[in-house]
Amino acid sequence: MCTRRGVHCTSMPASSHHIPVLLSTVLASLAPQSGDSVLDATLGLGGHAEALLRATSPHGTLVGLDADAKNLASSQERLSSFDGRTTFYHCNFGKLAQLQLPPFDIILADLGLSSPHIDDPARGFTFREPAPLDLRFDSSTGMTASELLRQSDVSAIKVILRDFGELFRDAHRLAITLAGQSFEKTTDLVHAVEQLLGYRAKRILPQIFQALRIAVNDELTMLDAFLAEAPLLLKPGGRIGMISFHSLEDRRVKQAFRALSTSVKDPVTGQVAVPASFVELSRKPMVASPEECADNPRARSAKFRVLRRVSS
Ligand SMILES: C[S@@+](CC[C@H](N)C(=O)[O-])C[C@H]1O[C@@H](n2cnc3c(N)ncnc32)[C@H](O)[C@@H]1O
Repeated sequence: MCTRRGVHCTSMPASSHHIPVLLSTVLASLAPQSGDSVLDATLGLGGHAEALLRATSPHGTLVGLDADAKNLASSQERLSSFDGRTTFYHCNFGKLAQLQLPPFDIILADLGLSSPHIDDPARGFTFREPAPLDLRFDSSTGMTASELLRQSDVSAIKVILRDFGELFRDAHRLAITLAGQSFEKTTDLVHAVEQLLGYRAKRILPQIFQALRIAVNDELTMLDAFLAEAPLLLKPGGRIGMISFHSLEDRRVKQAFRALSTSVKDPVTGQVAVPASFVELSRKPMVASPEECADNPRARSAKFRVLRRVSS
């Protein structure tokens, strides 16, 4: 269920060290103009949103979503000086259709984790610190990673590890060890994996946590729903940009953008029968410069793709 959030005023500080990934590339490619309407589907800490609000001043508007209520509240705080130009929803972007929003000039989604997910051990997203084994972006709904492991059988866990963690060699052995177990804390899971895999655990733990996170948040289903809906919410001339951080996400974005920017040809004449309504800004994804990667290690795996709507 998506809920609109009113003006938020707490003493919660917006994180000062969060660096929005690919910020200058995002602005150059999405080309915000004064008065544009923007949908930021993954507000996070509001870094991209703030830059987009400045670039669309004085009257541009921004609708912001986040599945994580804490991040949404931080963004609201950070963007409070743009009051009157912003609307916020606690909402998974996979449920975008429910909001019945009007068309936008610019749509942005910067997928995955934000810095508080990684920096705040209490959120349970990092395997380096003891915390409840949760991994949900939206802690008001769905199963935690702990519940998922307890309630799933070996074959289900094996599929999760293989399909979402791209673990092939170890998926079966790991699934036998993990399925049906009651791991309350991140460290309980880490110990079990270390006992099974020894020194190799260190390399594989990030993939296990990624797999569980994708499963509990149903991330790929939500991404597919967003990719089916969001481009249709662009005005003619509007731009949608997607930043992804692993191949499972980027492959989906690439395929969806390619399909939308491919004309339908007449099978007999080979002539264009139905011209594509969208064009890709570039076939290859844009990536961060070596300087940005040095400043912000998270930027190393970022891939940015942009699609422009040419006609309705
Ligand atoms: C990488 S951060 C975004 C950072 C943001 N661009 C900024 O400049 O601060 C991703 C955010 O998207 C949120 N998120 C992830 N999946 C989501 C989904 N399916 N629907 C809505 N929000 C989601 C996360 O909670 C997180 O706050």
